[in-house]
Amino acid sequence: MRFLAAIGALAILIGIGAAAFFFGGYYNVAGTTADPAPVTWALTRVRVASINRHANDSPPASFGDAAMVEAGAKAYAAFGCATCHGAPGVMWLKLSEGMHPYPPDLKKVAADLSPAQLFWIVKNGINMTGMPSFAEAGATDNEIWSIAAFVKKLPSVSDADYKSWTAGVEPKQH
Ligand code: HEC
Repeated sequence: MRFLAAIGALAILIGIGAAAFFFGGYYNVAGTTADPAPVTWALTRVRVASINRHANDSPPASFGDAAMVEAGAKAYAAFGCATCHGAPGVMWLKLSEGMHPYPPDLKKVAADLSPAQLFWIVKNGINMTGMPSFAEAGATDNEIWSIAAFVKKLPSVSDADYKSWTAGVEPKQH
């Protein structure tokens, strides 16, 4: 009995301490504060498991066609992906180096992500990172599949191809 009472008292004290820490403003929300290693580890595991579970749409039959890849390059440019991730022959903007987690170079991760995973990430975004939801930004499912097809091909798209495919593309604005 005594033992249980002690555990209860301890739990209450921990709760009060945590409330004082977080609501008292002691927790630092600065973007420059590195997350503790276990937090980064847990967030990464949760993100990967969540994407694996949710990403189960099947790509359209035309996935990866030359026309679809080219349409994807245009949508990639119009929706501003290069701002944060860069593109063939296009450097990301300096501002993306101030983001935590930082936006990865997509040609390095393209092989690790399936078409369904790419589609899901671009459609929904990733919470608590700077990765936006492009469904909310107005992209249609067709556009998002084409972006996924383009990202899959990124490692083999030349600077010249990207330049000619995206010539004259205007950024989407509100
Ligand atoms: C405002 C900056 C920003 C823009 C614009 C942006 N992203 Fe991202 N993106 C991020 C960040 C930050 C991450 C890293 C999330 C993480 O580490 O969990 C990310 C992650 C991703 C990932 C997952 C990478 C991985 O390793 O799992 C993909 C794929 C991706 N973005 C594709 C795109 C595409 C395609 C577009 C355009 C339609 C786009 N992003 C636009 C910031 C951005």
